[in-house]
Amino acid sequence: MSDIALARSRVHVRHGSNIGQPLTRRDGVLKVTGAAKYAADHNPPGMLYAVLAVSGIARGRVAFLDVAAAKAHPRVVEVITPANRPALAQDPDEKSNPFTFRLDLLQNDEVRYANQAIAVVIAETLEAATEGATLLAPRYEVEPARVGLDAATSFVPPAVGVGNPAEVHRGDVEAGLAASTRKIAATYETPPQYHNPMEPHAIVAAWDGDTLSIDTPSQGLALAQGRLAGLFGIPPENIHIRSPFLGGGFGCKGLISGPQVLGAIAARAVGKPVKLVLRREQMYGPVGHRAPTRQTLRLGVDDSGKLMALDHRTKTMSSTFDDFFEPASDASHTLYASAAIATSHEGIRADIGTPLAMRAPGEATGSVALESAMDEMAHACGMDPLAFRLKNYAEVEPISGKPFSSKALRECYRQGAERFGWARRALAPRQMRDPDGLLVGWGVGTATFPALMFAGNAKAVLRHDGSGVMETGAHDMGQGAWTALAQIAADALGLDLERLEFRSGTSDLPDAGIAGGSAHTATAGMAIHNAGADAVARLADLATNDERSPLFGAGNAGVIARGGRLFRRDDESRSESYSDILGRAGLAQIEGHGTSAADPAAQSNYAMHAHGAVFAEVKVDPDLGQMRVTRLLGAFAAGRIINPRMVQSQLQGGMIWGVSFALHEQAVIDARSGRTMNANLAEYHIPVNADVPSLEAILVEERDPHVNALGIKGVGEIGITGTAGAVANAVWHATGIRPRKFPITLDRLIESRGA
Ligand code: MOS
Repeated sequence: MSDIALARSRVHVRHGSNIGQPLTRRDGVLKVTGAAKYAADHNPPGMLYAVLAVSGIARGRVAFLDVAAAKAHPRVVEVITPANRPALAQDPDEKSNPFTFRLDLLQNDEVRYANQAIAVVIAETLEAATEGATLLAPRYEVEPARVGLDAATSFVPPAVGVGNPAEVHRGDVEAGLAASTRKIAATYETPPQYHNPMEPHAIVAAWDGDTLSIDTPSQGLALAQGRLAGLFGIPPENIHIRSPFLGGGFGCKGLISGPQVLGAIAARAVGKPVKLVLRREQMYGPVGHRAPTRQTLRLGVDDSGKLMALDHRTKTMSSTFDDFFEPASDASHTLYASAAIATSHEGIRADIGTPLAMRAPGEATGSVALESAMDEMAHACGMDPLAFRLKNYAEVEPISGKPFSSKALRECYRQGAERFGWARRALAPRQMRDPDGLLVGWGVGTATFPALMFAGNAKAVLRHDGSGVMETGAHDMGQGAWTALAQIAADALGLDLERLEFRSGTSDLPDAGIAGGSAHTATAGMAIHNAGADAVARLADLATNDERSPLFGAGNAGVIARGGRLFRRDDESRSESYSDILGRAGLAQIEGHGTSAADPAAQSNYAMHAHGAVFAEVKVDPDLGQMRVTRLLGAFAAGRIINPRMVQSQLQGGMIWGVSFALHEQAVIDARSGRTMNANLAEYHIPVNADVPSLEAILVEERDPHVNALGIKGVGEIGITGTAGAVANAVWHATGIRPRKFPITLDRLIESRGA
């Protein structure tokens, strides 16, 4: 990748620092010219094609597969079923820790959800493998599928999200409601949603003895390596995963999925490289998704409009065989002050693939209900919904009682409102029309997302020729991680970007943690920052202890690194190049190592979040109920901005997913069969350009000294959180109809109007 030309934007270039510059993507040219090789673009010599046969039922067992017919196909090489699947070192149903999710790897003939793998057909061509899979013509013993949130008795899950308690409260909500002068109770429903990255899961796997090399997209290389090592009973270092480019992920590539492992199993079974690519409809089952929710909010306020009680209850579902519960109610932990807050979750088990993290899990679903309820309450009080939010804005994090590590939310509200023109909004609904007679509505939603950080590692090298290398096994999902992380690396090493080789995207490099939880830039970035500082410190030791150096005696803290030179801090006329320092010491290079981890002291003293305020304008046809978002503006405070171009793009992308949540996305499950009826991109609607005409993300300046030394917060997921509620509230403002079921489709608007 060192040959990628670094394109620089002509605007806002800040000299002397790589961080903060709006560079374009380092990999952009490769991607738009087709030179970037994605996993499925690999075709090693002798490669065979594997195709999954998947279950057409949601519950029961596979009674018969016509393996003989498939094997009789002249170009089919092998058919793997539970009867002949090579043994694994670990039971795929073993739950070694709460974050190891059970996989379907042909361990038996049981069917637990539709689109579960029931066989793998390997052939010389994709067409033959596809035909072979069809020839299997499965027969099933079918049991009735349990579908929907009322399919089974509910229970309190052991945990929600990633290890959060299912029930949390502070103060007495019932007493708070009793003491309130105004109360509302409202229920909101959100549908199942699927990740739908442009690139489906794909793997090209090749074994050499007990060494496995694979090309597959991954948001967490070391996690994938560890999972495969356990399943195959080989050391993790025997597994080499290449994942330089991901065609999107949204969470579904965070953990290696069953189909990817089946690709590696297939390659081992036939002793040849094998390619396995999921068809779009096969993504609706085995790779995680967002479960549906039904959320009930009860709010109470006093005479002045101050929140006295906030109760947020969520009902959601997991699969019959594993635990992941969408932590929607947790959204009420972090935004609004209330004397009493209670959040709770209940779950049921249904015949679906296990839900997993998808695009702001919990925050997206929970904030749409919370922001809708806040809007309802504001209007019940006759208050402007922005003023109502400002009145109830939390000075300290409501549930934990910790102060926020930085408080830029008010500024987000202020800048967003001003730019949007919020002051001109009519208070009551159905007051605004455009020249064509369309109803116009304006809505606001608060955005929030925790500023997380995981453990990461990086290695830095400064070379005698004045160049440098930074290595970390990071993941570019399309968000621009390579570009932003290389900017951090260049600053950390005191090099011009052109002299830096940034190596990333394979499991052979130091573990950079997971590209999830919007924490990748902070996690990998801090490891890079520390590795660079370590290398520079070693170099400074050489120079400042050497009488022949102009830096002699300056002390390690007395020098600064810039442009491939060390300078005396107190006298910048005295400097020396990295090359000269290394040359005199007779060294070809010097190395530095860095790790990153959240600071436990800061974590226990502060609540850490990114914030934002999103403003939406919608136009609604009064007769047909047809809705369009015509303007969307978000103001976000997300710590130090490494690359404003990438960050704006991330925030805008998140906002588009917010529009999608509000108006488009839903998987429709057939109540009789348990199958997804719209498991394709033609009928599973997402916004296209025409759905999002004007989109703007304002970056509100924020210096947060507590999150990490660089002040980095995440921006990957926050955009969706305020937007879905803002759009829903704008629809209400246009029509007077309060959306309670998502997505807000026109039939739902028209139905409510008739009611
Ligand atoms: Mo994300 S849903 O943290 O990849």
